[in-house]
Amino acid sequence: MFTPQVFIETPRLILRQWKASDHEPYIKLNRDTNVMEFFPSVLSREETLAQIERISNHITQYGYGLFALERKDNHKFIGFTGLSHPSFESHFTPCVEIGWRLSRANWDQGFATEAAKACLDYGLHTVKLGEIYSFTSVYNVRSEQVMVKTGMVKQGVFDHPLIEDGDILKQHVLYKIS
Ligand SMILES: CC(C)(COP(=O)(O)OP(=O)(O)OC[C@H]1O[C@@H](n2cnc3c(N)ncnc32)[C@H](O)[C@@H]1OP(=O)(O)O)[C@@H](O)C(=O)NCCC(=O)NCCS
Repeated sequence: MFTPQVFIETPRLILRQWKASDHEPYIKLNRDTNVMEFFPSVLSREETLAQIERISNHITQYGYGLFALERKDNHKFIGFTGLSHPSFESHFTPCVEIGWRLSRANWDQGFATEAAKACLDYGLHTVKLGEIYSFTSVYNVRSEQVMVKTGMVKQGVFDHPLIEDGDILKQHVLYKIS
């Protein structure tokens, strides 16, 4: 049986490499319009599977990435939290970004904040990154709250270059921790 590499443990969570049993719950998560409210669209099965492959390869290559989140109490996969490299050009790129996406049933229990604090610590002190950024739509208050609660500092707002002009999701908040 494949035992995925564990990178971080918190009191309630395991942050690890992805495994095959994560595929179906992550496909479902990316089809949920609540979860994907602040993204241009929900993702198809094929798009999600391609994304998992990219994420997984990134973790293998760099020793960090968007880690699969597993609850310790029931061993269920609940989404991801971790570090990645934004694919667009802006005044703060190239950089390392922290991001999170959890299934709706697992929101508002502090899981994203718990995982994010551990990832920031891992990024800054184990990987020895000088700084880590985070950004989200100005309307994504839940996500911005995670940035605030993890001690990240607001840098301002910017227009996301991959989002069409005039789209309500274009303007993003930008946070950083050093
Ligand atoms: C953003 C997300 C990861 C947060 O996960 P979570 O586990 O619920 O986060 P936490 O419980 O750690 O913290 C959420 C905080 O937002 C607060 N919050 C929730 N809804 C809120 C609202 N409408 N307005 C203001 N604050 C809100 C919660 O009360 C909590 O803060 P508190 O602990 O100070 O009370 C989750 O909502 C998610 O997966 N969203 C969809 C994906 C996404 O948008 N990802 C980010 C894209 S950049």
